[in-house]
Amino acid sequence: MRKNVTLGRKGPAGPAPVSAPRVSTRQEVSRQRRRRAHGCWGHLIVAPLWPKHGVNLGTLLRTCDAVGACMAVPKHKWVPEALDRGNTLRRPSCVHWVNDPRGWLLRERAVGTRIFAVELADEAIRLGDLPAAGGRSIALLGHETYGIPEDVLDLVDVAVEIPMIGSGISLNVAVAGSLVLYKLAGML
Ligand SMILES: C[S@@+](CC[C@H](N)C(=O)[O-])C[C@H]1O[C@@H](n2cnc3c(N)ncnc32)[C@H](O)[C@@H]1O
Repeated sequence: MRKNVTLGRKGPAGPAPVSAPRVSTRQEVSRQRRRRAHGCWGHLIVAPLWPKHGVNLGTLLRTCDAVGACMAVPKHKWVPEALDRGNTLRRPSCVHWVNDPRGWLLRERAVGTRIFAVELADEAIRLGDLPAAGGRSIALLGHETYGIPEDVLDLVDVAVEIPMIGSGISLNVAVAGSLVLYKLAGML
């Protein structure tokens, strides 16, 4: 929290004074931000490698900017345009283009990158138990309908599941990716 907020608590003399939060102005917030978009830090990479809805890519790009991550996307014809359309940042974050997901993951493993499958899976750890990334890490996201393809699951170090108690089967892929990115970045 940027400000100290004292919430009212009832004591013998009645409720203590309450200092209500004041919403920061745009100028105040912008002074706390970087002047330029971060480049490729090569530490955290969110990888929606089988995307179906372009809008999720734009949402994930904003989270990448917020936590200092890069994004890896496939070179489908429609993806560059979806990134441009969905990205409301003036300066885009770092994007890696991936032609062959399995080959890319194999090369990343060979240099010691940890691969986290963000997925509803057997033996997954819960999001709350996921520690901040200790080295270069990939958060792999599945297709909006089919999830992460089976033929890459053998390359994954850990699966991470976000607990749910509602009636829906799964979360929106951009929401799931954003939650895991914040945890891996150590910002939650
Ligand atoms: C809409 S879900 C995939 C659909 C899912 N296999 C199903 O049968 O409904 C799309 C992707 O979002 C991510 N996802 C959604 N909810 C999740 C959760 N609760 N925990 C972990 N990942 C989740 C995963 O990467 C998943 O592959």
